[in-house]
Amino acid sequence: MEQEDILILAIESSCDETAAAVVKNGREVLSNIISSQIALHTVYGGVVPEIASRKHIEKIDQVIREALTEAKVTLHDITAIAVTYGPGLVGALLVGVSMAKAISLASGIPLVGVHHIEGHISANYIEHKELEPPFISLVVSGGHSHLVTVKDYGEYEILGRTRDDAAGEAFDKIARAIGLGYPGGPKIDAVSKEGNAQAIHFPRAKVVGSDYDFSFSGLKSAVLNYLNSCEMKGLPICQADVAASFQKAVVDVLLEHSMQAVEKYGLRKFAIAGGVASNTSLREAFVEECAVRNVAFYCPSPVYCTDNAAMIGVAGYYEYCKGVRHGYDLNAVPNLRLGERI
Ligand code: KG4
Ligand code: ZN
Repeated sequence: MEQEDILILAIESSCDETAAAVVKNGREVLSNIISSQIALHTVYGGVVPEIASRKHIEKIDQVIREALTEAKVTLHDITAIAVTYGPGLVGALLVGVSMAKAISLASGIPLVGVHHIEGHISANYIEHKELEPPFISLVVSGGHSHLVTVKDYGEYEILGRTRDDAAGEAFDKIARAIGLGYPGGPKIDAVSKEGNAQAIHFPRAKVVGSDYDFSFSGLKSAVLNYLNSCEMKGLPICQADVAASFQKAVVDVLLEHSMQAVEKYGLRKFAIAGGVASNTSLREAFVEECAVRNVAFYCPSPVYCTDNAAMIGVAGYYEYCKGVRHGYDLNAVPNLRLGERI
């Protein structure tokens, strides 16, 4: 390591992944360790917060050690510790935050709290070294659907957000309704490839008074109504057609709102982020539409779309460079708003 290199040890535990990473100079991932609890929660059909917290406690120490070992560094090389402090499940967040504070206190390494969504957006910087703000980003995950302008590093203007379910939440609920189980997103993605996206027309919701807000609850009800009515009429249900038609309805709305924002704000760079951004059909639709409009399109590899700590290390680097430091009173903030610093 060069003397002037800035090395961030990043910790993420906001939901069901216990993760740690080491990131060099904001863009180079030296290690990215993820211990997923998905198998554990599958039995319950979704994330059980209490189980998630307990599992984080069991895994976090090992995950951090592995991240340091794989990066071939020790704590002596680390410039700052970045940790997700919100939004997320409070008990889960607290595990990462407590660990980060303990390491910081014992070693004297500065502590930087990071916003989880800011992490998701920053995942785009890892593989696209040329990407710099300003640009527009669509963040679609299990808990969030945000359309934002990234004005500068760490500076955001929220253009739209979901009024009810997040995009990933809708994927998970519909997957459960058609018998695919948890986690729904990747399963709907896979099954849709065998289905006809034009088979059933599901609604594309518009939120009155807002061009950029999303609403997925009407779509969810429409799918459930379709399933009920087929059942009552004794008609067979084609799982792949329902999955593909539902997915198309979600992608159409996300794409339409995003492209409207691109045109209105005149920014020719667009980046997607979050777990749903790993969806094959969504990626294809955005690649195509951005090419037609001559807009540069960015998306992280699937491993950087779903929860990971490398993205927190990247966001943490830019926060650190801005002079952001947190004290040992740093707390988990389950409803932390994007752009808000506590
Ligand atoms: O970003 P993430 O790992 O966690 C949150 O911050 O919420 O996102 C998880 C969400 C889940 O709802 C999952 O079903 C969805 O992302 N997801 C997908 C795909 N992979 C994960 N949704 C659609 N297609 C996928 N391939
Ligand atoms: Zn996430």
